[in-house]
Amino acid sequence: LRPTHRLFSCPGTVAADVKREEQSSRNVETGSEGRTPKKKFSEVQKERREQAQRTVLIRCPNKISEKKFLKYLSQHGPINSHFFYESFGLYAVVEFSQKESVTSLQNVTRTPSMETEAAIPFKSRFFNLKMKNPSSQTSEQSCIQSSNHSPPSNKKLSELLCYAESMDDQLNTLLKEFQLTEEDIKLRYLTCSLIEDLAAAYFQDCTVRPFGSSVNSFGKLGCDLDMFLDLDEIGKLSTNKTSGNFLMEFQVKNVPSERIATQKILSVIGECLDHFGPGCVGVQKILNARCPLVRFSHQASGFQCDLTTNNRIALKSSELLYIYGTLDSRVRALVFSIRCWARAHSLTSSIPGSWITNFSLTMMVIFFLQRRSPPILPTLDYLKTLADAEDKCIIEGHNCTFIHDLNRIKPSGNTETLESLLKEFFEYFGNFAFNKNSINIRQGREQNKPESSPLHIQNPFETSLNISKNVNQSQLQKFVDLAQESAWILSQEDKDRPSPSSHQPWGLASLLQPSVLSSVSLAKKKRKKPASERIKNLLESIKSSSPENDTHTNGK
Ligand code: GTP
Ligand code: MG
Repeated sequence: LRPTHRLFSCPGTVAADVKREEQSSRNVETGSEGRTPKKKFSEVQKERREQAQRTVLIRCPNKISEKKFLKYLSQHGPINSHFFYESFGLYAVVEFSQKESVTSLQNVTRTPSMETEAAIPFKSRFFNLKMKNPSSQTSEQSCIQSSNHSPPSNKKLSELLCYAESMDDQLNTLLKEFQLTEEDIKLRYLTCSLIEDLAAAYFQDCTVRPFGSSVNSFGKLGCDLDMFLDLDEIGKLSTNKTSGNFLMEFQVKNVPSERIATQKILSVIGECLDHFGPGCVGVQKILNARCPLVRFSHQASGFQCDLTTNNRIALKSSELLYIYGTLDSRVRALVFSIRCWARAHSLTSSIPGSWITNFSLTMMVIFFLQRRSPPILPTLDYLKTLADAEDKCIIEGHNCTFIHDLNRIKPSGNTETLESLLKEFFEYFGNFAFNKNSINIRQGREQNKPESSPLHIQNPFETSLNISKNVNQSQLQKFVDLAQESAWILSQEDKDRPSPSSHQPWGLASLLQPSVLSSVSLAKKKRKKPASERIKNLLESIKSSSPENDTHTNGK
């Protein structure tokens, strides 16, 4: 169960700062096409990281006077912004203007002494506020205003979509409702920063960076938090300082491969999170996966976290997706809607398996947008030709070079509407020759499939790999069938669209309704069989799926 976050807005002067900041960062991070220059991925990461380092997380009593709370904290220095949220209790995220304020607050906190249990004295930035006299606070509690921070329910979404004015409006509404909020983004960076404090006890100067959908502009409220423990900076820092004869001694502690080094590092960090990590629960070390990771829940933020190391290419993929998501405002609207459509029809799942992943779906949308005439998105090879010396990047022998400055990429002249793009997407992939062609965003055109996996999407950087190798034929067929059906529904609606006053689901809303889709599908293909026959078939399929027939692979 994911806790739902309820956020409380902050009145007064601080609120104005937050609003201003929200406004400007929305332009930057969500790809809205104002005239403000768009920030580079590295700039956003740097700014957010610094902001997180000046921030503390406080568990508060349920009844609290916001005014007194802020007044008390201001003794340690000026506060830039703050917000409250609920996640099995009330929490506050408070960003100071200066890092010193955090130390000052830490200096006046104490480790609780308990009679039956022993507390581990790890000095973190996660505090627990205990009131000496809780009843005196109650009267002022009402000054905290709440704003909801969880994604809308299916019912609410359906209503919002039904009342929209156009399909373009529907796709933009869905994006607005599901995209990460400013507060959620801050909480994600703060969580990484708190984990970094812990990892730094072992690896001084290490960095824990968020990657994946938390930062690639395609994050949906409630998505997991992928983190990358970056140890490369440590080497860089020391080469700057020493030019001489001293090398860190490692001969007695070296290991036979990078993979084993990664496993050992994650193993100790996993132990550390498990034993000492404030609020880290359910720590699982998944070290034999293709990409070893430590999975845990950060209870206070409510995030499900996946921590990896030695995963620099994934960070590059996140940057590339950020560029694609920020270049044109139609990209994110389309990706969010396709992801939501896929989820509604169980094409994707939170459990790893033989289904399509969100990452693969995003690649398919990007590829489709590269194939429009004129293209809406440039190919990766084109982004590479725009790169200058500073952009050059080779990771483990793979060329990951592409331009980082979005402002130097010419906007597309394509003016297609979201409505038309959604229809065309379903048409395109409903008729794609998956049996012989591979999807390749580097070249922006189909390639012959180099191997026989049902779905082949070339990994943009490790080009010999297929990012959708886990997908089996039946899942691909389900995707194709649903794409065809969706294209068909939209073409029917063109002729006979329900009026908005009829409150009937239409456009995107009708595509998200599993029942409508499956009944249309069955009726259209005239393959509906009597119930007795369906039950007989079901029993036969259960009999034939004995373990030796099970060819499912585990995707992750
Ligand atoms: P959601 O978590 O589903 O919202 O999307 P996500 O993009 O964060 O996906 P996920 O958490 O599964 O993976 C995190 C990141 O790891 C992705 O954004 C990719 O950069 C990378 N990644 C995931 N799956 C693959 C894969 O099969 N191959 C490669 N090369 N990278 C992957
Ligand atoms: Mg993720």
